[in-house]
Amino acid sequence: SGAAWEADADLVVVGTGVAGLTAALEAIRAGLRVLVVTKASAGEGSTRWAQGGVAVVLPDEHDDEDSVARHVDDTLVAGAGLCDPDAVATIIADGPAAFAALRAHGATFDTGPDGRLSRTREGGHSAYRVVHAGGDATGAEVARALIASADGHGLTLLEHHVAVRIERTPEGAVAGLLVLGPDGVPGLLRAPAVLLATGGVGQLYRTTTNPDVATGDGIALALWAGATVADLEFVQFHPTVLYTGPGASGRRPLVTEAVRGEGAVLVDATGRRVMDGVHPLGDLAPRDVVSAAISRRLVEAPGGVDDHVFLDATHLSAAAFRQRFPTVYAACVEAGIDPATQPIPVAPAAHFSCGGVVTTVDGRTDVPGLYAAGEVARTGLHGANRLASNSLLEGLVVGIRAARAVAADLARGLLGDPTRAVVEPLPTVPVVTDRAALQRAMSRYAGIGRDPEGLAAAAEVLDATSTVATVDERLAMENAALALTAQALLRAAREREETRGCHVRHDYPDRDDRWRHSIVFKLDDDGRV
Ligand code: SIN
Repeated sequence: SGAAWEADADLVVVGTGVAGLTAALEAIRAGLRVLVVTKASAGEGSTRWAQGGVAVVLPDEHDDEDSVARHVDDTLVAGAGLCDPDAVATIIADGPAAFAALRAHGATFDTGPDGRLSRTREGGHSAYRVVHAGGDATGAEVARALIASADGHGLTLLEHHVAVRIERTPEGAVAGLLVLGPDGVPGLLRAPAVLLATGGVGQLYRTTTNPDVATGDGIALALWAGATVADLEFVQFHPTVLYTGPGASGRRPLVTEAVRGEGAVLVDATGRRVMDGVHPLGDLAPRDVVSAAISRRLVEAPGGVDDHVFLDATHLSAAAFRQRFPTVYAACVEAGIDPATQPIPVAPAAHFSCGGVVTTVDGRTDVPGLYAAGEVARTGLHGANRLASNSLLEGLVVGIRAARAVAADLARGLLGDPTRAVVEPLPTVPVVTDRAALQRAMSRYAGIGRDPEGLAAAAEVLDATSTVATVDERLAMENAALALTAQALLRAAREREETRGCHVRHDYPDRDDRWRHSIVFKLDDDGRV
């Protein structure tokens, strides 16, 4: 077999962000034996970079007019007709309980002078309902608390273990996970259940808010295992990512939408407002609308195409800015900008994969024993454009539910027998050989604005920079995941001949309700997209 060592568990969780750790802790509570693996160190994922907060309506905390129903409506409007309304209703309704569980794990959130939780607003929200921690360091606090709680519960965490394949029984049920240990030696984690919580795909693009680890690994693992994906064409670009020059690449500092929630406005190089006359919510329009408006303004710039606009937050004093947004303030200072006196240069960058592995609202995929939660999953909550701060919420809610689903499925005898895992040699698959070239092509042709020629050009670059190799180390796995995810994303983007949510087609500039459905597929029998 392909494995030199083994371990076993009831559930293997891949990833240590909000969804993975929430699920692992809930699974321990349910009495399951849990192994958590991450290819990096715990907490290196996207969660810790989240700024704005958690979107959640808390009637016990704030007796005002906001309601779960309004939060549901805002989510559906942002999702541009592609949300699954039942998924939206049930996930958002579970928000308060999941948020309470997070606080029980020790996460602390900002409060106002009245002792109640402080709330901010972000794009697409009709009310102040985004709770936050450390000003703009919400994700860092969520990660800190969950990692400390995992530690306290004696969770077994295998760091620097790279997941390379979901192993199955001859009948196709999950039987474990093949990983490469820190020394590169393959090991088999036998388990009847694997939960993917691997985050997103930001590293497909030249600039992104996502850390280095966001290479689409979970989407690739799921596709190889025969699972279905959907909505992959909807990559959300965050409108305001700190711009530090034309040569910048990789993870870029986010400037949270909450800065606009506190009154900042977008202006172009001539000082003209970007969002005037674009949308009734102005600078707090849904994120896809703001990113597309910026992208149009950049092309219209007098004297040629511009590469950034400005976020003017000079109405806030230096002290107020620093206190409310310490993370953004530090990033600005590092870039030589004083946000109290200078507008902040910003540009859109790849931020969130609205689609992913198709799951139920309990995290079940269509492969027995395979579950997914968080950004890697497509529950139907986000549709064509995720509402701000709904992602930490989804990770919390579906993380808990997925752990309970595993426990229930195990108890009902629905899962495979891990002793029957069929372990083949390490996978040999297409891998990207020139990441930078792929990222440039994806940003240029498969970013905010798309057309068939550009998408075809991106596919050509992908082809030209791919070769077949054995996945025998972390880099090879990431490059394999990037290759497969790019191919799947480009397929969906070429197929969708309309403009909707984050997917803007220059050749089909309008929404077309014949396209009011998700693009859903899995690999064919030969393992092709
Ligand atoms: C932000 O703080 O602007 C990001 C929030 C999110 O992506 O949900």
